[in-house]
Amino acid sequence: MGKIEKLNHRELKSIGDFVVALAREAGEIQRRHLGQSKPIAYKGPVDLVTEVDHLCEDAIIGRILDRFPRHHVLAEEGEHKPQGESSFRWYVDPLDGTTNYVHGYPCFSVSIGLEVEAEMVLGVVYDPMGDELFHGIKDHGAFLNGRKINVSKIRALEQSLLATGFPYDIRESEENNIDHFAKFALASQGVRRDGSAALDLCYVAIGRFDGFWEMKLRPWDVAAGVVMVREAGGRVSDFRNAPFSIDSGEVLATNGLIHGQMVSLLERGRIKRLP
Ligand code: IPD
Ligand code: CA
Ligand code: CA
Repeated sequence: MGKIEKLNHRELKSIGDFVVALAREAGEIQRRHLGQSKPIAYKGPVDLVTEVDHLCEDAIIGRILDRFPRHHVLAEEGEHKPQGESSFRWYVDPLDGTTNYVHGYPCFSVSIGLEVEAEMVLGVVYDPMGDELFHGIKDHGAFLNGRKINVSKIRALEQSLLATGFPYDIRESEENNIDHFAKFALASQGVRRDGSAALDLCYVAIGRFDGFWEMKLRPWDVAAGVVMVREAGGRVSDFRNAPFSIDSGEVLATNGLIHGQMVSLLERGRIKRLP
């Protein structure tokens, strides 16, 4: 019997409560420092890091490792590998939406996901400005502030509201999503670029967006959000409709009903790589 089967719903719920408290704590740090935080480093020309990213990450990781010292933790600013193997892996984005944060645009979040034996089982995303706490537990649903949520029922791409984001190498790489963006802007009711992939996924889960796609994302950007979409009845895959893989960077998350239409357009928009 695998560890997922052994980790019953009560245990998962108790870990979920613990993660919710962590996310709220980090969100409080973000609220407290908003408007005072400047970039302390640049990972690329448009890829910023602030002191708040580190403050939040330290708070979250410290608490996870105190409680689960043998778990593997992959966070945006650092990785903590346990001695020996662990089938429990945490994905932590301490501040998803750092660019928004630096500019005081109130769209950012804390995102924490837990994988057990290569399966995402728990996701928590907290928006401290809207005080919206999303959580999802495998096979038990997705929730906003404790109330169950579901994806939208929009069936036609032309009636959909979509979201996307652009990779940090947008200036250097031809695979920068501009081609896909143009196609979806013409095919849908609108495309938003809100700047927090974790929240974009939660907004698909709750039906505010009907679909979201992005490329070159990192595991911590999407780990928690994909649990939310799946548990809210949505569908998650790569751009070719192959099973989603947390390391692939590509995510297409929809209400399920417009998934095929989005895959067709992504295929048509795909940049042909030179041999
Ligand atoms: C970024 C945000 C953004 C997405 C970028 C991510 P960060 O995360 O999720 O929406 O477009 O690709 O890297 O750097 O603010 O944690
Ligand atoms: Ca992120
Ligand atoms: Ca981040």
